[in-house]
Amino acid sequence: MNAELFAPERHGDSDSVEGMADFAVNVREGPPKFVLDALAARLPDLARYPTTGDEARAVAAIAAAHERPAAEILLLSGAAEGFELLPRLGIRHAALIQPSFTEPEIALRAAGVPITQVVLDRPWRLDTEDIARRIPDAADLVLLGNPTNPTSVLHPVATIEALRAPGRLVVVDEAFADLTLDAVAGEREPESVASRRWPDVIVLRSITKTFGLAGLRAGYLLASPQIIERLSVGRRPWALGTLSLVALAECVGERGQAYCDEVATRVVAQRTHLLAGLRDIGIEPAVEPDGPFVLIELADGLEVKDELRRRGIAVRSAANFVGLGPGYLRLAVRDEETTAHLLEELRHVRAVVRRSGSVTG
Ligand SMILES: Cc1ncc(COP(=O)(O)O)c(C=O)c1O
Repeated sequence: MNAELFAPERHGDSDSVEGMADFAVNVREGPPKFVLDALAARLPDLARYPTTGDEARAVAAIAAAHERPAAEILLLSGAAEGFELLPRLGIRHAALIQPSFTEPEIALRAAGVPITQVVLDRPWRLDTEDIARRIPDAADLVLLGNPTNPTSVLHPVATIEALRAPGRLVVVDEAFADLTLDAVAGEREPESVASRRWPDVIVLRSITKTFGLAGLRAGYLLASPQIIERLSVGRRPWALGTLSLVALAECVGERGQAYCDEVATRVVAQRTHLLAGLRDIGIEPAVEPDGPFVLIELADGLEVKDELRRRGIAVRSAANFVGLGPGYLRLAVRDEETTAHLLEELRHVRAVVRRSGSVTG
């Protein structure tokens, strides 16, 4: 088996090459026109360093969206930068709730932070009664994704609250939270803790996924003023470029929020279509998904992935996530037409793989 598939630093973009139908990278189509227009308007300004005005506009948009003061906001060059800054807090022992995004582990290990992997069993929910047993007392930082990549599990606020303990920081990676929706209540981000202002909770947010801005690098972090101060000491000046600041102001601002409302509703419909199609060909999701991606498990996941690739379709192998394995594949939620193409090919591919000897689950 290809060892590269198990490398923690491997991401969905390794599964996708230009021209393929891309179900591997969890970035939506975009950027939307209002964001592109705002960015284009600032291209002539690129000879200047980013201004304090641009920074203030981004911070003001975030402050309004999450009802937090400016002192509780740190602008990031992508949520991924937040993981890299965490060791500045003098973390002595980190507990990572797994399976989850691989970058926090890489960043913390690089800084020499001892790690305990708290590997959940399928369906990957943390039982609040079990937390004291699962999280070591020594862990002064606990990190989880909500919704979690790649399982698409959305933990309730009560779980995050239960992780809090004296002398401990809880980091919640909400990179995909803006597309979560309680479809019954019509409420977006039902389990987000971004506006809670808990002094021991750090929230990471991204605009790269929903707005199709992965190439720009922009995100932010919400925490107490004391934590923001410690994270900022010694950080390089102009950590975000002008275009990243403009994008943050637009995406987190009112127009951006309205856009998220629209996309979140669309994602629910598109995901329902994908799940129905998968069930039609005998594939259940590994767990009922709440994010803009769906995890499945097939007995011959890698063969299916390879055969789909030969047919121009990229899906994400989840082999390198802690607690998962080669049978797991992650599928991004796409529009109905693109999904219909995937489902059609998946139907054929499963028959081909079955004939060639292995058995799809
Ligand atoms: C769960 C999760 N968190 C954070 C990130 C990083 O996001 P950004 O592009 O904002 O750095 C990713 C990117 O794949 C992710 O999947």
